[in-house]
Amino acid sequence: MKRILTGLQPTGEITLGNYIGAIKQIVELQEKYDSYIFVADLHSITIPKDPKILRENIRKLLALYLACGIDPNKNTIFIQSENEYHTNVSWMLECNTYFGELSRMTQFKDKSKKNTNFSSGLFTYPVLMAADILIYDVDYVPVGIDQKQHVEIARDIADRFNKKYGKIFKLPDALISEVGTKIMDLQDPYHKMSKSSENQNGVIRLLDNIDLIRKKIMSAVTDSESIVRFDPDNKPGISNLINIYSVFTHKNISEIEEEFNSCNYGDFKKSVADVVINEISKIQNKYDEIMKSNQIDKILDDGIRKTREIAKRKYEAMKLEMGLGR
Ligand code: TYM
Repeated sequence: MKRILTGLQPTGEITLGNYIGAIKQIVELQEKYDSYIFVADLHSITIPKDPKILRENIRKLLALYLACGIDPNKNTIFIQSENEYHTNVSWMLECNTYFGELSRMTQFKDKSKKNTNFSSGLFTYPVLMAADILIYDVDYVPVGIDQKQHVEIARDIADRFNKKYGKIFKLPDALISEVGTKIMDLQDPYHKMSKSSENQNGVIRLLDNIDLIRKKIMSAVTDSESIVRFDPDNKPGISNLINIYSVFTHKNISEIEEEFNSCNYGDFKKSVADVVINEISKIQNKYDEIMKSNQIDKILDDGIRKTREIAKRKYEAMKLEMGLGR
């Protein structure tokens, strides 16, 4: 059985972009893949976090995974920092990664621009991500398009390591769904919907109040043409809404254009809001139940036991090939 793995950072409640780019893919793929999903808490401290809020967010994210339909019987679920082999492996990979290739990572260039005093963790972040992936001999990594470059560098690092030390790693591929690879900010559709956006009206969070979600969709920025037509270059706002509608209804773009060809933007937005809210309100109900229950710890105990065993084997194999230890 082929294996998939993905992780999300526990930075605040997850957005519609995260849900569509990563979680929804896993929910669909968990039926036919050996599936791993974790909370990337170590990645989230590349930008300083309040410890108390971070710990709360880790639990919230785990509850959201389950509420979104990640099935603990079909997935291995764990917290990255509980498996110390990830950082050990990351260091060994770092010593086989070039400064130049990390300097070319778009996300690093963007994030470091916003901050003059950034941590070295922000720079080496893709190597830890490579460790997360390579430890588990993963075939596919379901992610949004913004993480594609990081999966590609993981592949390059693995390939280089294999050529130098013998075949230790499987080469992974990113798995990017056809629609919804990049959900854009509702108020600024030239930029991706991001947890850290300045204008929160452009960002839908899965735990937002339902009325607020409707309001955000109804006030999404569009254009003056008043025709529901997919054209990301000239009509980024409407195209983004078409994308979202397509993900939630499984209809393709031309079916959607046909369905709304005599509708104004207000009617179209209302339909988008209805399908989004229908799915999110079910998630919210389940989320409340899960937060009240104590099922998360048992799932994490199972997950960490299993992933530590796998990771230890990979770590020992790397040490042996690299001549580390006695
Ligand atoms: P993170 O937490 O930034 O994002 C989690 C997932 O959500 C996707 N995503 C989006 N997809 C579509 N539209 C958007 N607007 C949007 N915004 C975010 C991201 O592509 C990602 O799939 N480094 C990773 C976490 C990570 C990881 C890994 C992922 C650590 N190790 C190993 C896969 C495999 C991150 O910061 O994702």
